[in-house]
Amino acid sequence: MTTNVIGQPLPRIDGRAKVSGGARYAADFNQKGQAYAVIVSATAGLGRITEIGAEAVSAMPGVIAVISHLNAPRLAYGEHKGSIDPAIGERLHVLQDDKVRFWGQPVAIVVADTLDHAERAAAALNVAYAAERPVVNPTGLLASAVVPEATKRGGRADADAGRGDADAALASAEVKVDESYDIARQNHNPMEPHATVAAWDGDRLTLWSKSQYVINEQAEIAAIFGLPVKNVQVICPFVGGAFGTSLRTWPHVTLAAIAARQVGRPVKLVLTRKQMFFTTGHRPRTLQRIALGAASDGKLKSLIHEGYGETSRYEEFIEALTSVSGFLYSCPNVRTRYRLVKLDTGTPTYMRGPGEASGVFALECAVDELSYKLGLDPIELRRLNEPEIDEAEEKLFSSRSLMKCYDAGAERFGWSKRDPKPRSMRDGRLLIGMGVASASYPAFHAPSSALARLLPDGTAEIEVAASDMGPGTYTSMTQVAAETLGLPVENVRFSLGRSDYPPAPSHGGSWTMASVGSAIRAACIAVQEEAARRAVADQRSSVFGESIDGVMWEEGRLRRRGDTAPGQAYGDIAASAGGAIEASASTKRDPDVAGKYSMHAFGAVFAEVAVDPDVGTIRVRRAIGTYGAGRIINPRLAASQCVGGMVGGIGMALMERTVLDTRDGRPVNAHMADYLVPVNLDIPDIEAHFVNEVDPHVNALGVKGLGEIALVGMAPAIANAVFHATGIRVRTLPIRIEDMLVS
Ligand code: MOS
Repeated sequence: MTTNVIGQPLPRIDGRAKVSGGARYAADFNQKGQAYAVIVSATAGLGRITEIGAEAVSAMPGVIAVISHLNAPRLAYGEHKGSIDPAIGERLHVLQDDKVRFWGQPVAIVVADTLDHAERAAAALNVAYAAERPVVNPTGLLASAVVPEATKRGGRADADAGRGDADAALASAEVKVDESYDIARQNHNPMEPHATVAAWDGDRLTLWSKSQYVINEQAEIAAIFGLPVKNVQVICPFVGGAFGTSLRTWPHVTLAAIAARQVGRPVKLVLTRKQMFFTTGHRPRTLQRIALGAASDGKLKSLIHEGYGETSRYEEFIEALTSVSGFLYSCPNVRTRYRLVKLDTGTPTYMRGPGEASGVFALECAVDELSYKLGLDPIELRRLNEPEIDEAEEKLFSSRSLMKCYDAGAERFGWSKRDPKPRSMRDGRLLIGMGVASASYPAFHAPSSALARLLPDGTAEIEVAASDMGPGTYTSMTQVAAETLGLPVENVRFSLGRSDYPPAPSHGGSWTMASVGSAIRAACIAVQEEAARRAVADQRSSVFGESIDGVMWEEGRLRRRGDTAPGQAYGDIAASAGGAIEASASTKRDPDVAGKYSMHAFGAVFAEVAVDPDVGTIRVRRAIGTYGAGRIINPRLAASQCVGGMVGGIGMALMERTVLDTRDGRPVNAHMADYLVPVNLDIPDIEAHFVNEVDPHVNALGVKGLGEIALVGMAPAIANAVFHATGIRVRTLPIRIEDMLVS
């Protein structure tokens, strides 16, 4: 008998703490005697700082320090490349010189006794520049785009890949689509802004800091300040949304630590919403071309995908923009190409579904367009080109449920009621459209470790330096531990978010459950073995004999196989052993499996839109995402996570766009009034479902991960629905009202 905790739709175990204010986020960790720091952001997009009027501001009420490159300490900035950092280039060094590389770069910090005093002084600080005109618009620069250096070093994004002769096959194809796509720069905009509270004790530094990757933040700050890694402690029990923006350690963390050291007291630094648009990464704008060639029966003959992303001048950010085009469909001739345009901008970073969300938008809009040219149902076109293996890597899929997702989704959505003719369906004055698109994201598995501890009171503790940015990691990991140990969830306490816990990978890439979950499972098995060994070695425990071979665990009790006696509970064994029994474990992907199988989650996304033909407003009326993502640890949390991702997809499709002033690089809509994100009124009925998918290869838990895939297919499903509603094909995101008013 097992407890079957995995698969239960348990509510969040941290839900009560979150709604009652008990959950503490970075900025909640107020320290005794703390001062407040405010960043002064550059108001030039390129050039040099010529003057900083620190003196006038230093005399303002409550001001303790004004720190700029003129008086900031020269920091070690030792070598450190976390797995999350661009392999090529060097991170921004703050307050180390007079250079301005992009609009909004931190040029000073003001520290004061209250936040109000710090804000007033920061606003009053006069900074003069010798400004130059930055280059921030990639559209005219594609000819000068470069092959990403990192792709030559085994980065996931291939610069050039393919098979056959795609250009020749396109030229001779009976039916063709050849179009360009332009997706706006986006900013993550989680509810919780970046925040750090920094406190020094001699040469030891504690950071209460918003992070998806606490051990990386620890290593990064240690390298920047030239400290031993163990001298830095990062604490982050809760993250109020992140979507990728807290994967890297951005300059504000360094600034908080500089300020705290300079003024000799703890310092709190919280970014303003506006500053969230400057130095904490963004989804790069992308420009893409997709060309598809097919025979008149719908069989794909050629697929060309050329993608351009933007990066900064000082670092090379790459993402997997074109990779899905290699394996989503069966096609003998494929050519993909990925290039970068260097701009006077801050370095972009991963944003939910990084690469895939943008690349799949272009591909799935083109496939939809092809379906109309062929006179085929878009789902049938995909079925016709469903591959048997991953033709890019020439590997079997560990599992692939794409068509199962389409079948289940079509049934629920009522796809058969759709009249295939564009602009044919109405609800009163409104034009109704139904669209569909595929989603895909790799099933990663990163090395992780975990510690499990059995206590004399019969409970267990699990510790990992992971994060929980909102998907329910506290709950789902507790379920994995409870199931493995055979304990009720109430008897398991799972802790995360401290850099002195066993190391975990970044909380991103949809790999937390695969990686951290597998490590927790292994640690729980290891601690059971350790407990069995102790029990057998313990003279007072007569029942178990000499060896642990003949014993087993059942519902948290150790017994001899075949025995009917209740056996010995973890707590008894721990008590006899004189305290807690601990074991750690580390896990990573089996290289044999990785060599043999192509591992991805797949999904089918359906959206219905209503377009007002007079004023051009677009409303998503309902959406259904159906995913094949391996085993689902907690269906309630998984569905909630996917609905969140689909909401992000609505933002990508219809609202989110960071607009830069091409004269100076200033984001002109760096606030929530003009950077639009979906709010409750924009969100229709959204459902997420999972097909039953058993993947014996992917990892010990059989999970593929869900964080990214739910955003991936949403924007193309909406764009395809907009075309179906109106007959207007929009290949630029976000789709705007103006785009609807062309006829
Ligand atoms: Mo996700 S973009 O890896 O936080």
